[in-house]
Amino acid sequence: MHRILFRRIVGSPVVSFNTFPQRVFYSTTCHRLKQPRSIIPDHTLPPDDVQDVQQSARKAVINDLFSLGGRTVVVTGAGRGLGITLASAVLEAGADVVCLDVLPEPSDVEWNGIMKTSHETGRRATYHQCDITSEDQVQAALATAAAQAGERKRPIRGLVSCAGVQQMVDAIDYPAEGFRRILDINVTGNFLVAKHAARLMRNANTSGSILFIASMSGQIANRGIHCTAYNTSKAAVQQMTRSLSVEWGRYGIRVNSLSPGYIRTAMTDQLLAEKPEIEKTWMAGASLGRLGSVEDFKAPAVYVLGDGASFMTGADLRVDGGHCASA
Ligand SMILES: NC(=O)c1ccc[n+]([C@@H]2O[C@H](COP(=O)([O-])OP(=O)(O)OC[C@H]3O[C@@H](n4cnc5c(N)ncnc54)[C@H](O)[C@@H]3O)[C@@H](O)[C@H]2O)c1
Repeated sequence: MHRILFRRIVGSPVVSFNTFPQRVFYSTTCHRLKQPRSIIPDHTLPPDDVQDVQQSARKAVINDLFSLGGRTVVVTGAGRGLGITLASAVLEAGADVVCLDVLPEPSDVEWNGIMKTSHETGRRATYHQCDITSEDQVQAALATAAAQAGERKRPIRGLVSCAGVQQMVDAIDYPAEGFRRILDINVTGNFLVAKHAARLMRNANTSGSILFIASMSGQIANRGIHCTAYNTSKAAVQQMTRSLSVEWGRYGIRVNSLSPGYIRTAMTDQLLAEKPEIEKTWMAGASLGRLGSVEDFKAPAVYVLGDGASFMTGADLRVDGGHCASA
């Protein structure tokens, strides 16, 4: 029995893998192939419904490949910590930035820095309160962002999906509600933002890059802390990255994840305050002799967002100071 990949095409209801019998579905959109075309052996999958991709490294000089000029990038979790630092990186790299977070106000010091860069460069930075678990709030915030980006002729072409929460609880005692809350924010909420950002890019016929902030905890279980829900959620984010990259490549939308190791932020400060002894355990795996700082992730994030990464999708970029390299 031959394994046949049924591929969805316009005019066909087929969306499943199957083995037998071979039912033939006709496409109204295919003129190139003589035979019915919705049954396609997986080794000949033609990319003929992929949109013309505007992201390309061809003929660009190296500085342009690392530039985010001429576009708007949305950053979630941008009220503090890693998110607000990545918002600053995006602005420094040439984009307008739209910051979303459930907090009513962003952290003062970092936001003042962002405002200074904005005034010096003429690039725009805005902050909006938004709970990413509410689809209505996400849709409204992104619609506003898209309208403003359109007025400035700097379309939304990037998303850094960074909002996330962590919780340290022994799995044996984990309350169902707590477990669900972690998955709701870290997985479903991140999905909702990506979905609405992708819809805006597709509808505007513009290419884009979506970067999920996952974690090395999606691949390993951390020593010294029990965070089953968090680790599970980050593994889900890494798999969501691969799945969405396969679905959205045809729109010219790349989807990748960045998986940091330990970083000193409010999130880890809280864990360390509860269990100060774990810092020693973390340092034992720190090949570079230190934990990460939020600035360590500026360049990796800008690279994945930019056109220099135009052939990168469905990938996870682990930046962990060598932590996962040793057992
Ligand atoms: N700090 C680390 O060591 C580390 C390591 C790996 C991955 N990460 C990931 O990096 C991201 C940022 O973490 P951080 O260390 O800066 O933590 P943080 O707690 O300082 O920042 C997280 C931000 O997400 C926001 N947020 C939480 N729930 C939200 C919601 N429902 N809607 C909108 N915003 C919401 C918070 O308000 C906060 O501003 C997270 O996804 C985290 O899992 C952090």
